[in-house]
Amino acid sequence: MIRTTTSNRQVRPTRVCVVGLGYIGLPTAAILANRGYDVVGVDIRPDVVAMVNRGQVPIHEPGLGELIEDVVRRGKLVASTSPDEADVFIICVPTPFHPDKSPDLSCVRSAAAAIRPFVRSGNLIILESTSPPMTTRNTVVPIAVPEPLEVGQDVFVAYCPERVLPGRILVEAIQNDRIVGGITEHCTQRTKEFYETFVAGEVVPTTAIAAEVTKLAENAFRDVNIAFANELSMMADQLGADPLEIIQLANRHPRVNILNPGPGVGGHCISVDPWFLAHAAPHQSALIQTARMVNDTKPTFVAHQVRELADQVESPVIGCLGLAYKPDVDDFRESPSVEVVRQLIASQAGEILACDPYVDADHWEELPLTPLSEVLERSNVLVLLTAHQVFRELPIADLDHRHLLDTTGAWRAAIRARQAMPATDAAAPV
Ligand SMILES: NC(=O)c1ccc[n+]([C@@H]2O[C@H](COP(=O)([O-])OP(=O)(O)OC[C@H]3O[C@@H](n4cnc5c(N)ncnc54)[C@H](O)[C@@H]3O)[C@@H](O)[C@H]2O)c1
Repeated sequence: MIRTTTSNRQVRPTRVCVVGLGYIGLPTAAILANRGYDVVGVDIRPDVVAMVNRGQVPIHEPGLGELIEDVVRRGKLVASTSPDEADVFIICVPTPFHPDKSPDLSCVRSAAAAIRPFVRSGNLIILESTSPPMTTRNTVVPIAVPEPLEVGQDVFVAYCPERVLPGRILVEAIQNDRIVGGITEHCTQRTKEFYETFVAGEVVPTTAIAAEVTKLAENAFRDVNIAFANELSMMADQLGADPLEIIQLANRHPRVNILNPGPGVGGHCISVDPWFLAHAAPHQSALIQTARMVNDTKPTFVAHQVRELADQVESPVIGCLGLAYKPDVDDFRESPSVEVVRQLIASQAGEILACDPYVDADHWEELPLTPLSEVLERSNVLVLLTAHQVFRELPIADLDHRHLLDTTGAWRAAIRARQAMPATDAAAPV
């Protein structure tokens, strides 16, 4: 049951249970532990739990390794495969979609069920996973809150989305403004007070449904804007114009700010979350659905461009630089770069060499990865898919590859310089 009034018995929380030790949960657990809380970090993967308890991290995130090592050594963070009693429970588990793009809430359900035996009067339960509208009220509350505890009176439940940028998580998790939306006003208030103990940005109160929709709106906004850039780039290519030049010229207008196109949109957030809105309001989300389709089309367009280049050489050896969904991260979930490589393999466009300094070869089963030096030496078609720093710094002007395709814009200046070279260079940059 949900109560809108409450007794005001409140003890300052000291013990936090963070469920899900991935890109969001692990930094959150580390920050809380560093702030003085006693944290139990929970993950269903025993290998992740064992690593964290050794003071190591299973993901690449600047500064996280040192922080985890420190808080584990000081005994402030302990990882486990099952939850424990705590004052605050934070759920940070994945929220993917099914093949038909409908939300898959199985991890949220199992996390909520796992904490239920440990939830006591006075506890705060927070969902941080990006979730479809009403998940906090309709999924977390009924599964996580045991009877006879009442939400808003005995137990406090809220939604608080994450807005961090991978690569800057430890900074942004503290500095960014946060929105907190409780099931009742009292739930919101308790949650706000908790976040204010470790967040330097403003903690803005609202309702659970508003917080859920706001998070999805943020990512749908980004997706729609990127879709415009991607559509423009495909259109410009068709019309024989340089998309980046058009964007630079258009952005001289004081009220125009077109984003950079890329090989598509990937990652666990922007390529997934808009579908949650589309699923919740299918007849009011035509723009959002179209943007998703435009961005999902882009890898096919890029693969076609690569094949056209490959057709121009004998025995094409196609070097694909980058698999991660964005520069300088090790995350390749829903990555358009991966999709391009997959399509090139499937269409037998040539010998495919793929390289990514952040991707563990053991995690990439579709194709053995090739060292960068070998890719540069052997390929006669070189495609930049993810603009990792190590690729941005390549001496493009010195590469004697006949064909370059830059899907990111990172090589733009170098390619232009090559174009200006005498024709004997025989370079055919795109
Ligand atoms: N990664 C980001 O940049 C980002 C940014 C904002 C929001 N989010 C959202 O945060 C949520 C978590 O994303 P992530 O990137 O940290 O995911 P992740 O896959 O990196 O980590 C999730 C972890 O949860 C574990 N897990 C799954 N089910 C569990 C369960 N029932 N109990 C305990 N552990 C369980 C997994 O083993 C995994 O280690 C998602 O909803 C995502 O959309 C992510």
